[in-house]
Amino acid sequence: MDTIGTRSHEATTEMAEIGPEWVGAPDWVRHEGLKRWVAEIAALTEPDAIHWCDGSPEESDRLCRRLEAAGTFKRLNPEKRPNSWLAWSDPDDVARVEDRTFICTEREEDAGPTNNWVEPSEMRSTLNGLFRGCMRGRTLYVVPFSMGPLGSPIAHIGVELTDSPYVVVNMRLMARMGKRVYDVLGEDGFFVPCVHSVGMPLEAGQQDVPWPCNPVKYIVHYPESREIWSFGSGYGGNALLGKKCLALRIASTMGRDEGWLAEHMLILGVTSPEGRKMHIAAAFPSACGKTNFAMLIPPQSMPGWKVTTIGDDIAWIKPGADGRLRAINPEAGYFGVAPGTGYATNPNCMAALRANVIFTNVALTDDGDVWWEGMGPEPEHCLDWQGRDWTPGCGRKAAHPNARFTVAADQNPVIDADWDNPAGVPIDAFVFGGRRSDTVPLVTEARNWDEGVYMAATMGSQTTAAAAGAQGVVRRDPFAMLPFCGYDMKRYFQHWIDLGRRLEAAQAALPAIYCVNWFQTDDEGRFIWPGFGENMRVLEWMFRRIEGAAQGQDTLFGIVPTHADLNWQGLNFSEDAYRRITAIDPEAWRRELVSHTEWFGKLGTPVPAALLAVHDQLASRLS
Ligand code: GTP
Ligand code: SPV
Ligand code: MN
Repeated sequence: MDTIGTRSHEATTEMAEIGPEWVGAPDWVRHEGLKRWVAEIAALTEPDAIHWCDGSPEESDRLCRRLEAAGTFKRLNPEKRPNSWLAWSDPDDVARVEDRTFICTEREEDAGPTNNWVEPSEMRSTLNGLFRGCMRGRTLYVVPFSMGPLGSPIAHIGVELTDSPYVVVNMRLMARMGKRVYDVLGEDGFFVPCVHSVGMPLEAGQQDVPWPCNPVKYIVHYPESREIWSFGSGYGGNALLGKKCLALRIASTMGRDEGWLAEHMLILGVTSPEGRKMHIAAAFPSACGKTNFAMLIPPQSMPGWKVTTIGDDIAWIKPGADGRLRAINPEAGYFGVAPGTGYATNPNCMAALRANVIFTNVALTDDGDVWWEGMGPEPEHCLDWQGRDWTPGCGRKAAHPNARFTVAADQNPVIDADWDNPAGVPIDAFVFGGRRSDTVPLVTEARNWDEGVYMAATMGSQTTAAAAGAQGVVRRDPFAMLPFCGYDMKRYFQHWIDLGRRLEAAQAALPAIYCVNWFQTDDEGRFIWPGFGENMRVLEWMFRRIEGAAQGQDTLFGIVPTHADLNWQGLNFSEDAYRRITAIDPEAWRRELVSHTEWFGKLGTPVPAALLAVHDQLASRLS
């Protein structure tokens, strides 16, 4: 492998003094500031070698084979799953760690009460201690990436320094990664510096483990200087720093300062049988159905409808010259939840996974393929995500509930023709949806922008396995951004209110706002609504509403379609069940509004006056 800049441990202290030359950057890297920074981080972390990633398939192949030799990767049966790999993580490193995620602004109130805050200089000294010598015995990889199409005016560049080859090969699928980024960066272009270590140095002679990590974890953001530091975890959003850390926490702060939005939203195109197309951006919390909705397959009984994917997790949204909001997907791949994704529920997604995939924490079948709960028929035997024998009825899950696949977006059979368009797509509607077993109706339309912002700001959802900690408890997750907003949530709400005012002033058409809930359960705890492809019926209603061609009923909480307002062709769903999942129960809503007040109280003051006004209107409608 063409690793350059190899050196011995003894040379460490001299390195910073010698300057950036020793890092051995190839001639296609012309950015002196970047070289100096790499030299600085290498002097701190003391890697054995530095590798400047070029993003080529050959480089990825070499790294995958190296990961195989290290026991991190198993090669899947090439006949079943060509060019695909399986990793099993350390059982203590399986999801984002929200309680170890920090927003370090100069003033605590700028991080707001929903983020963990530590004073920046104190955090820097803690991290300096942890990162000192933390890459000993390992290679430091320099990973340049663009979030958004290369060279697009809405894209941003980041450079991740990591000691994890697993991170490198995942970043290559998830972002536009490699040599081409340096052409955009030039000699002095801006980039977000991202430093990542698994936090497990190998002292002389020490054996590595298949999934190195550290029980001590820190996922740290300095939004003011636009820096990211991550220590101790190799998993997902903790380690692939372009995703949640850059594209949401740092970018939301940039958006606040510059008048745009960075959101935890999928973006889809929906085309009607008449050939008319709209674009919808939808925010659901982690593991609540974004990937599935973005690749939705309309039921056969709804011929002519078509859904195409622009993005499945993150949207960057900016007002265009015509005043309309335009959205891009900053990512280039999907890091999707495997369990619950299957041939029955999402064949498009299964088709995307036919080859060239990295699977993490799913089960390994006896014929060298993968399996997870909800994928399809159970195998008679497999190895679970911890390598233990698994048989049906053994009482354990074969895949970890937060098992994931990493796959390039262009493998999606329903990728939108404009998914890579630097200008983005115009947004016609926003959808917000939580996982609520009761109270919140299947779908409702906000009567105006402020009411929509209120719905999003007070959204609740049961927690999922995407984050470490208690699961299934309802918490407020405003805009599905609670773990991802890089600044004070109250100011974030105000930013949304202000954006509405700005668009109105520009006489631009404001996107409609909807609130959905696919997850109401019956008395036995089973989902009442069939969901998945059948969500097309709800999408059709939204589409027709925006066209001005569908009816709904004015309720306490927005406009809700009556049974007669939805298309039931080909679906046997009882009117009683429909009434149950669309009813607005005054008693439940009295409790819900009290809980909204408590939630606003937790956020401190000032909660935007526009939201308090909506609350008063809802309260007076109830009484
Ligand atoms: P992150 O990648 O964590 O941000 O999550 P995501 O929102 O993209 O989640 P994803 O689409 O991968 O969905 C995860 C889970 O939601 C799977 O277990 C699915 O089975 C389930 N799910 C998706 N859509 C529906 C639906 O319409 N109804 C029900 N009941 N479950 C759904
Ligand atoms: C989420 O948890 O919302 C994800 C997965 O999209 S991760 O990248 O691990 O954050
Ligand atoms: Mn997500």
